Amino acid sequence: MSERITKNMARNIYFGGGLFAILVFTGLTIDTVKQIPKLSHDDKITESVARGKVVWEENNCVGCHTIMGEGAYYAPELGNAFPRLGANDEAAFKTYLVGWMAAQPLDTPDRRKMPQFHLSPEQVNNLADFLIWTSRVNNQEWPPNIKG
Ligand code: HEC
Repeated sequence: MSERITKNMARNIYFGGGLFAILVFTGLTIDTVKQIPKLSHDDKITESVARGKVVWEENNCVGCHTIMGEGAYYAPELGNAFPRLGANDEAAFKTYLVGWMAAQPLDTPDRRKMPQFHLSPEQVNNLADFLIWTSRVNNQEWPPNIKG
């Protein structure tokens, strides 16, 4: 009968396990926070980048797209839009984005549609600056799939 787990043992497992999990979690959190400066970059958050983020949020782009892996999986990842669609050339990317935004919705059968947002040229420029800034964050190759 002495093989039964006693109340004391159960209590020790409960509190010991709980404490262990809290320590691991705290350690990982501290490590993550310490990594942030290394993963960031020195590009300034200009007025245009900040406004682009507002345009991104107000139009709920993330309701369909992911950005650095966060968001919805209906449409492609856009955290890497600048290198992927603009080949890291700012002027080329801006031209591409203006054209893309103006052409929506595309009338292609069997393809998912993106709505027309009626954004001003300045808003599209802001969006491009925001996506360029975001693409430079070191996201440790996340998401692993190029289109999210
Ligand atoms: C209702 C869903 C939806 C919303 C909201 C949406 N998109 Fe899209 N977007 C799509 C779909 C679907 C595609 C892919 C269309 C295709 O391939 O024909 C796409 C494609 C794109 C592409 C081209 C990506 C590629 O890999 O070819 C860009 C750039 C883009 N969207 C930008 C935006 C921006 C900026 C916003 C917010 C202003 C936005 N989208 C909001 C559905 C959406």
